[in-house]
Amino acid sequence: MPKILVTSALPYINGVPHLGHMVGCLLPSDVYARFMRMSGYEVLYIVGTDEHGTTSEVGALKEGMDVAQYCLMNHQRHLKTYQDFNLSFDFFGRTSSDQNKEMTYQIFEALDKNGFIEERTIKQIYSIDDQMFLADRYITGTCPYCGYDKARGDQCENCTKVLEPTDLINPKSAISGSAHLEVRESKHLFLNLPKIEPQLREWLKTKEAYWPDVAYSIALKWLKEGLEPRCITRDLKWGFPVPKKGYEDKVFYVWFDAPIGYIGITKQWADEKPDSRNWKDWWQEDKDVYYVEFMGKDNVPYHAITFPATLLGTGENYKKVDYLKGCSYLTYEGGKFSKSENRGVFAADAVTEFAPDYWRYFLMSNIPESSDTSFTFDLFAGVVNKDLNGVLGNFVSRVLKMTASKLGPQVPESGTMTELENNLLKSLDEHIKLYFKYMNMLEFRKALNELRAIWVEGNNYITAAEPWVVIKQDEKRAGAILNVCINLIRVFAVLSAPVMPETAQKMLDAFGLKLSSESLKNFDINVEIKALKGGMPFEVGNTLFERISPERIVELKAKYGSAQS
Ligand code: MF3
Ligand code: ZN
Repeated sequence: MPKILVTSALPYINGVPHLGHMVGCLLPSDVYARFMRMSGYEVLYIVGTDEHGTTSEVGALKEGMDVAQYCLMNHQRHLKTYQDFNLSFDFFGRTSSDQNKEMTYQIFEALDKNGFIEERTIKQIYSIDDQMFLADRYITGTCPYCGYDKARGDQCENCTKVLEPTDLINPKSAISGSAHLEVRESKHLFLNLPKIEPQLREWLKTKEAYWPDVAYSIALKWLKEGLEPRCITRDLKWGFPVPKKGYEDKVFYVWFDAPIGYIGITKQWADEKPDSRNWKDWWQEDKDVYYVEFMGKDNVPYHAITFPATLLGTGENYKKVDYLKGCSYLTYEGGKFSKSENRGVFAADAVTEFAPDYWRYFLMSNIPESSDTSFTFDLFAGVVNKDLNGVLGNFVSRVLKMTASKLGPQVPESGTMTELENNLLKSLDEHIKLYFKYMNMLEFRKALNELRAIWVEGNNYITAAEPWVVIKQDEKRAGAILNVCINLIRVFAVLSAPVMPETAQKMLDAFGLKLSSESLKNFDINVEIKALKGGMPFEVGNTLFERISPERIVELKAKYGSAQS
């Protein structure tokens, strides 16, 4: 059995995570990590903040803070938000750590030694009004490939093409808006991607059969367009100083040390926990690790091309991604999330409105896997009211209340299984197999469809079995039906746990049970349906999910901004 390494795109330190970030990488990585752990795998789930670059310098400047202090503060803010969403990472680290510096130097030196680093004199954009060299993303202009007029100097968000700032048509400073820019020359280091390309192509070919299309097609498009040497140094202060003669006053480009951050953060985790395994247990090719990365489509080129090429170029035995889960975008009411325009739901606010499981379930069942998807409050409320309140919540409260009022607050004794129960178990078995299959394949929409279908089976069963009618003639049989229903509550809890960990625990609280760590391992419905025995006391508990009223929807839309103007 391989060990599973799970990582998500590392969020920019100064960014404010919104629902799109959550669903594009962080949340699915957590659901997958939880699912694999509960299935009995050893999992290491690593996330952290991506801290270098001008964005941090500018952010700190605005706050009147020292950059290191600013990053620490924001690191804690990110950490809190993700904890509020119940992300179960083993470690939430930082790309600015000493361990990452050590890894970055080690990898750079190997690349240099192997002849994959070259010097070039380049033209860089200096903003006369801002009195600084502008980092790529601080220059905006028109994309020369697709004509999008808000392309950034590092990448066009619209066509995902990675750019150099000098490629932009009508460039402007994103800091001051000034077009008073000047091109100045300076010497920089480049990673010679064309020289690594043959190895890269060979490696990538082994992924063709099973990477999701969103990821593989972007990688392929990149190769077709031709790889070019990529500049890996910058004229900035905040970053890792380049350990090479003549480059002492430059730092590595944020995109060079950020993905190395996965390794650096693993090292940080290993260093901080003396009992934990060596980082090399996870990052050497021969250690039987299955490595899954989660990211939005704009990140795919870096993780399918640049980062693997970086690792290949070292000639060392680094683990490279096995499965790259690339997601499309979630839009907000058909437009963009925008902090500055106060439009969209940001993760820290989301959990103040509804418990995290409302979001986790909604987002995972609407994850933009193959194409962009729009978040709307109408859709959100529809899903919450129908699936969570209507199907799941209603089943749980109905079963517990009915049992308590008619037979008392203990699990009734089980009885002989009739055709009704046998059919239920057969359908459940089919849905459960599919649920496991899709979770393993990281096809989350399909998996969540199966999860919902599993809950629906419970409702169909109780409707068909009519314990409230049966009880008038045959109390024992009614008890046996309710025994099955109560056991379904536990089954639903365990199966839903990777997606809705808090709700799962709340459902188990009724019986004083704790969610056990490997409860999805060898899951067999015919066994699970008998787990709770007659006589076990239970508490009815509170409603699991509140309905969202039409008035509340109106309020939420007003508060978070509606469609893009
Ligand atoms: N900070 C980047 C973003 O949010 C992602 C970096 S992923 C890493 O788009 F692996 F490179 F760190
Ligand atoms: Zn473009």
